[in-house]
Amino acid sequence: MTKILAGFFLTGALLSAGPYTKQDRIKDMQTMASAMQEIQTGFFYNNFDMIKEGTAKLSDTIVKIQPPLEEVEEKDVMTRYVNRKVQMSNKIKKKVNRKAKDLIERFKEGDAVEALQAYTKITKYCMECHTQLRNW
Ligand code: HEC
Repeated sequence: MTKILAGFFLTGALLSAGPYTKQDRIKDMQTMASAMQEIQTGFFYNNFDMIKEGTAKLSDTIVKIQPPLEEVEEKDVMTRYVNRKVQMSNKIKKKVNRKAKDLIERFKEGDAVEALQAYTKITKYCMECHTQLRNW
């Protein structure tokens, strides 16, 4: 009973606008993939508006990524394991956001090479999480 109550409390504290599900996360991942594509197209067409839109979409979405309800509910059995993943995820999220800001600034200054480097770093962070969380 205590466990169930603790579960409710935890879920309520973590999630304000309804539970974040695996489905939500997949949708957010797809949004980020399309944001990355938009940024890349912006590079090829030298279109700053596309780059701005893409990075804004990326930054707005990455902050929403969190362990889905299904994983939060596992917490009782695998607390340490899940915690490690949450810490790792938060670190990667911060790094992605920082690089997204860099990317915009560098491109605005006319330094496309540095901007592209920030883009490559972001891709690396995406894959870092995928290999650690999913063994992809
Ligand atoms: C916090 C860790 C994490 C980060 C950071 C992350 N991903 Fe993911 N990504 C996942 C997980 C976990 C899944 C699997 C989701 C599932 O199937 O439940 C996934 C799945 C995906 C998918 C497949 C979605 C589908 O349709 O099945 C795409 C595309 C994707 N991520 C793109 C990205 C991009 C682009 C970035 C970087 C901007 C990124 N991800 C960063 C954890 C992460």
